[in-house]
Amino acid sequence: MEFESYKQFWDHQAATPESALAAVDGSTSEQVVQITGQFTAQQVAIALALNKEDRLLELGCGVGRIGRELAPHCQHWTGVDISEKMILHARERLGPFENVDFHQLSRSSLDVLEDNCLTKAYSVAVLCHMDKEDLYLYLQELHRAVRPGGLIYVETWNLAHPIGWKRWEYEVKNWHGSEQKQRKDVARNQFCTPDEFELYVRHAGFTPLACYTGSPWVQVVAGHTLDDTEVALQHQRLSEQAAEIAYSPLFGQLFEQTVDVIYGAIHPREVIDFLDQHAGEKEIPVFRPFIETMWKKQPERWGEFPG
Ligand SMILES: C[S@@+](CC[C@H](N)C(=O)[O-])C[C@H]1O[C@@H](n2cnc3c(N)ncnc32)[C@H](O)[C@@H]1O
Repeated sequence: MEFESYKQFWDHQAATPESALAAVDGSTSEQVVQITGQFTAQQVAIALALNKEDRLLELGCGVGRIGRELAPHCQHWTGVDISEKMILHARERLGPFENVDFHQLSRSSLDVLEDNCLTKAYSVAVLCHMDKEDLYLYLQELHRAVRPGGLIYVETWNLAHPIGWKRWEYEVKNWHGSEQKQRKDVARNQFCTPDEFELYVRHAGFTPLACYTGSPWVQVVAGHTLDDTEVALQHQRLSEQAAEIAYSPLFGQLFEQTVDVIYGAIHPREVIDFLDQHAGEKEIPVFRPFIETMWKKQPERWGEFPG
């Protein structure tokens, strides 16, 4: 099926609650989405030094995987997304919170938000799914909506990392096998080098404060109109807290194995053996339920799950 717009593609992905969960972290399980959501929310909260006064935006909120965890820790949380169906699922999942609101976006614009209405904003696993012109337009819009003194956290695929490159090669292989006349998927994965991603952030008006590049993702924390003293303080804070914000080498290895399982290069048993060898590391409770659920849901592919 060919999709003509981001909205059409993501509404299709979010057609059912289960398919929407699958589209945000690949797991099709509420329990797993809560586990991965807590992990990512912790990274974002530290990157942004989130506090109770913050008016926070998530660009591309999906089902509220991260927002559900962060809403209790800020004054107000806004979720925006191109897909109205994603927003329906997010409303359902964030129902108990009174300090949240949602907006459906039209392409690459945050015109639903007033200038300077936010203190902080973040976007995870979203900017990698659009044309780079749209990525840059959104960064410009974030600069308009976040007030001076504010912070953003954004990430995309890291083409310069060996596992990021490998992920890109899977993309190339898929494309190579497709019909020559077929349009490229409108929401396909797009990759940046760290320099390129930082350049977009800088040209949108932000000052990059930290750029973590040691994983398949480029993660940038940037500030809006900070003075030199504040920039220096943020540099220091973000370098001291790097281990809590940046994806670890073990996270990268587990991600690589997960992708290898999905693309049929290895059996999930190999990942489970690897998880057993690293029991006790903080990444294990994120990947174990993910891999086990994936295996259990596809016995026709990998045989019955042994547990
Ligand atoms: C992989 S999901 C990630 C969701 C969420 N950020 C998370 O990490 O759980 C990507 C989300 O970005 C949204 N999205 C994709 N393209 C978009 C665009 N051009 N504008 C706004 N949202 C978009 C999708 O609808 C989807 O909800």
